[in-house]
Amino acid sequence: MSAEQTLSIIKPDGLQKNLIGEIYGRFEKAGLEIVAARMMHLTKEQAEGFYAVHKERPFYNDLVSYMTSGPVVVQVLQGEDAINNNREIMGATNPDDADLGTIRKDFAASIEENVVHGSDGPDTAAQEIAFFFGDDGICPRTR
Ligand code: CMP
Repeated sequence: MSAEQTLSIIKPDGLQKNLIGEIYGRFEKAGLEIVAARMMHLTKEQAEGFYAVHKERPFYNDLVSYMTSGPVVVQVLQGEDAINNNREIMGATNPDDADLGTIRKDFAASIEENVVHGSDGPDTAAQEIAFFFGDDGICPRTR
């Protein structure tokens, strides 16, 4: 498996709990490099667009409200098997099902407010990275 990129979001509850450094530390300790990052307050349109795949799900409106309730930090993580590596660091979507020592087990209040998002596969990673960072938003690690 060669180096891969994945899209990560620290959600509004993660910022409210002041976890940016804690979460970035976990990424870096696991060998992931941050190659793009931005803090932003998503508009309703941005949150609806990002989560369009969940449009028909019963939790969609609450999800959009949650994701626009405060600022988020969005980053691209790069490294060997980055997509799965990040998913292991995050833990299961529902913190009740997440392994000990994962971000969601340690910090998430519920399946709705689960602190972080991470791409679930190569196609979604490419789409999600382009959604936030376009074609030229990545900063290559030259050293
Ligand atoms: P995320 O990994 O960002 O993907 C979709 C988000 O919807 C999820 O994390 C949760 O924040 C939220 N969500 C709320 N309810 C559910 C549910 N029943 N199943 C999956 N995701 C849910």
